[in-house]
Amino acid sequence: MSDTVQVQWFPGHMAKTRRLIGESLPLVDGVVEIVDARIPISSRNPELNSWLKDKPRIILLNKADIADSASTRLWIAHYEKQGIKTLPVDCKTGKGLGGFTDMVNQMLGSVLEKYKAKGMTGRTLRLMVVGIPNVGKSSFINRMAGGSKAKVADKPGVTRGNQWFTIGKGIELMDTAGVLWPKFDDPKVGERLAFTGAVKDVVTDVELLAVRLLDIVGLRYASMLEERYKITIPEGIDGYDLLQLIGKKRGMLISGGEIDTERASVMVLDEYRGGKWGRITLELPGEE
Ligand code: G4P
Repeated sequence: MSDTVQVQWFPGHMAKTRRLIGESLPLVDGVVEIVDARIPISSRNPELNSWLKDKPRIILLNKADIADSASTRLWIAHYEKQGIKTLPVDCKTGKGLGGFTDMVNQMLGSVLEKYKAKGMTGRTLRLMVVGIPNVGKSSFINRMAGGSKAKVADKPGVTRGNQWFTIGKGIELMDTAGVLWPKFDDPKVGERLAFTGAVKDVVTDVELLAVRLLDIVGLRYASMLEERYKITIPEGIDGYDLLQLIGKKRGMLISGGEIDTERASVMVLDEYRGGKWGRITLELPGEE
């Protein structure tokens, strides 16, 4: 196995994230946390649990269409055991989102009762949407709101930069666009975010990244790669040799008959990110 790809990140983001979430929290009844179903560990900020204190929360396991469904079921059981309502969704097509409103009403039933007791029947429930960049926040909000954006000026105590969206049936979503950053202390986290393309801008060594991805997927999901590239993967092959094998099969050669590993790397990463290999999950509960 090759060494983990190092992804650089900037300190300072975390403090800002914490402040923005802290300022917005009193304005909402609950939180919708969006994570990437393929990497539920790396695509969440573990600090969020303590920042949110007791706010009711729903986890949306997004991109469930390209995650391994057996693994997604394990994740749902894992979160539900902690008392967190969890919904697997595909915000690109909207699949799974039909259950969202009911889940919110279930989660916030006691809040609605409290409003009712104070004479505020039919009070709108407000939810803050959080998630790291590229996890699918805009796709989720667009799907749910269908373009109906509330005027920022209408809301008391609105934190600058937050936007509100009405999604019908007495629910409003607050978009805290781009404030939640992942935690990069463990180099594997940065690497996995780079695999999925969540941090593609800061990674330069595309070839090393593809090799690392093949190291992992070649072990866990070899048959998918065999099918996609019409190859037979020898036992114990490492990511680099696998990249060569794939490049050769796809006819990616440079002069002298050598394999164009850079071109093959770009293709490998594109195909993985686009879900072309099949449904793959890279992290399971208990691997934190
Ligand atoms: P963000 O606001 O959290 O930054 O994420 P955004 O909604 O912009 O989504 C980031 C990318 O992820 C988009 O792809 C989007 O289409 C894709 N995406 C979001 N939800 C899902 C999902 O459930 N399944 C799949 N397969 N993809 C999803 P893009 O390549 O940046 O844009 P585009 O090609 O869709 O235009």
